[in-house]
Amino acid sequence: MSEGRTDHPATVAELTDALRGGGYLADRGLSTALFVALSLGRPILLEGEVGVGKTEVAKVLAAVFGRRLIRLQCYEGIDTNQALYEWDYARQMLQIRALSERQLDDEDAVDKLFGPKFLLERPLLEAVRAGDRAVLLIDEIDRADDEFEAFLLELLSDFQITIPEIGTIAAATPPLVVLTSNRTRELHDALKRRCLYHWVGYPSPEREVEIVLVRTPGVAEALARKIVAAVNRLRELDLAKPPGVAETLDWVATLQVLGQDDLDLQSAVDTLGAVVKERDDLDLVRERLEEIVSGA
Ligand SMILES: Nc1ncnc2c1ncn2[C@@H]1O[C@H](COP(=O)(O)OP(=O)(O)OP(=O)(O)O)[C@@H](O)[C@H]1O
Ligand SMILES: [Mg+2]
Repeated sequence: MSEGRTDHPATVAELTDALRGGGYLADRGLSTALFVALSLGRPILLEGEVGVGKTEVAKVLAAVFGRRLIRLQCYEGIDTNQALYEWDYARQMLQIRALSERQLDDEDAVDKLFGPKFLLERPLLEAVRAGDRAVLLIDEIDRADDEFEAFLLELLSDFQITIPEIGTIAAATPPLVVLTSNRTRELHDALKRRCLYHWVGYPSPEREVEIVLVRTPGVAEALARKIVAAVNRLRELDLAKPPGVAETLDWVATLQVLGQDDLDLQSAVDTLGAVVKERDDLDLVRERLEEIVSGA
């Protein structure tokens, strides 16, 4: 890999293989969407169920293509200070104290207080600077509020940031931007229009078994199959929190740590907390546990 340039897969199949090499099994739809995003330099919005690998795919992409992962975790009330940049007030104060009265008359010294030395980079500024050497993960965008979404819209369209005291910083080449959402609210059409879109659903049972085998070395294939089958039956119930791939993996790990190499009624009762995490769901599942475990 040459300095300043990152590897780029030549085909969808190559991308799929690279992700697999990083322990991530993407289906054709997801690989294609990511390949197009990489090739066109467009942001991609991944929406989907909880725990189906939306965040992980951005991490693995960064790892396998030697890019830096820059993550912006969204939450209610997030604002530009946390996302873009902040002035390091504490250091500015110290600097002011250190300057003598005479130097404070010096305009230059005062200007320097708002120079790069006192600028704290937050993820978005970091990503603009890193350009295509980075994957920018804007995680759980649905948790941020409308104003923040509007602000992101602007950033995603021109990839430049203006800091009044310093000037405009523009990305030479845009980073790969992966946005994720659990759809706790609808995103604005304008944001969606800027992005390519892919819905990440539950994997097919065959793929989920493969994911278990890749992610949990040492697990017997028969046990993996049994757990995946049980989890798929759980997903058919009307649960408030249906289990994702994350829960499947947790269930396997839980049984492993207990030295259980089979999923039977008793071991399922003992370990249900690894997959079902709502009181009402637990009641519903317990009633039917036998058929869930046995597949009857
Ligand atoms: N296709 C896959 N290949 C390999 N591992 C996967 C795959 N899908 C999910 N996983 C694993 O499942 C777990 C959950 O993934 P991740 O946290 O990325 O889900 P998410 O969709 O971001 O969930 P949330 O909505 O809760 O944020 C991780 O441990 C990840 O490694
Ligand atoms: Mg996530």
